[in-house]
Amino acid sequence: MSGRAKPEKPLIRALRGERLDRPPFWFMRQAGRYLPEYRAVRADAGGFLDLCMNPEKAAEVTLQPIRRYGMDAAILFADILLIPHALGQPLDYREGEGPVLEPIRDAAGLSRLDASAASSGLAPVMETVARVAAALPDETALIGFAGAPWTVATYMVEGGGSPDHRNTKRWAYGDPDGFTRLIEVVVDATVDYLAAQVAAGAEALQLFDTWAGSLAAPEFDRWVTAPTRAIVAGLRARGIDVPLIGFPRGAGLRLAEYRDGTGVDALGLDFAVPTTAAREKLGDATCLQGNLDPQLLVVGGDAMLDRARAIRETLNTGPCVFNLGHGIVPETPPEHVAALSALLRGD
Ligand code: CP3
Repeated sequence: MSGRAKPEKPLIRALRGERLDRPPFWFMRQAGRYLPEYRAVRADAGGFLDLCMNPEKAAEVTLQPIRRYGMDAAILFADILLIPHALGQPLDYREGEGPVLEPIRDAAGLSRLDASAASSGLAPVMETVARVAAALPDETALIGFAGAPWTVATYMVEGGGSPDHRNTKRWAYGDPDGFTRLIEVVVDATVDYLAAQVAAGAEALQLFDTWAGSLAAPEFDRWVTAPTRAIVAGLRARGIDVPLIGFPRGAGLRLAEYRDGTGVDALGLDFAVPTTAAREKLGDATCLQGNLDPQLLVVGGDAMLDRARAIRETLNTGPCVFNLGHGIVPETPPEHVAALSALLRGD
């Protein structure tokens, strides 16, 4: 792809399997409500969807954490539910309640989706990517992302967040062929969406499978590993060779199987994964990314810094990227993020 003439950015080198003396770092949800400057832009934008679909403002909030903390990567400001929205599923983000969708639980619900509408609906996101790519410092990489199909499907079927995904599981376990059609719609839209992000300037991609851990073993293969493999294959078939990070939260003992079965280049570890054991089991060739508990970022001080050093030391026996084990929470004091970033930059 493009950019080969220039030396690769540290994040890209690490994701491609190079061990660096100073591991690159970024944080999931590094843009968001813990930052006062985010809250100001958000208030100005109207709703959360309005912010995601406003390229100028979305680019601005993507860049805010980079200006403050100098991470090695920016992550596109968007949301995993923009795909269902672009497919025609009504979506609303309610204050204190999170996302609310009109649930889809059967073939009749599926027939209301319009796959042909997705790309044009997502065009503003590509303009955000292009704006951020043009504004980033030379060494800072731009990560694009999407939700993985299983996780996106849980929101589409439940109509929002849910503790146990009961309706999604009942459909997937009880009528696997019917549920496959939903997964296929999401896979196809996701390949188009991620390919467009790369065309607009994304240099690496992360697939968020937040609810991968909620499935039993055989279903994990069918609804987590297989659709992710289909996305990886779909992107590679289009000649897209940017590094791909899989984040199958809660996969635990199934991480190696997920890596081998999907073909992702790097694995995001959630905070429950023991890093030493993960390195032993996954070997020194795979780039591992993780995995500080975001609540330690709320606590700050030596509790946070000592754990960050320990994680970095155990992961850095091979290629690695320092990150959290899940997203930054809104209560996080910005000065704790500054202290952690200073440690990770080595100043
Ligand atoms: O900085 C970044 O990481 C980039 C932006 C980003 C957001 N959401 C912005 C956002 C990313 C990568 C996501 C991914 C996402 N969205 C996931 C997967 C990762 C994870 O957290 O598990 C999921 C499950 C969603 C769906 C979603 N979006 C929920 C459940 C919620 C409500 C809960 C919450 O945190 O408010 C959102 C809203 C959302 N997405 C916000 C942000 C900054 C907060 C909205 C606001 O400003 O009011």
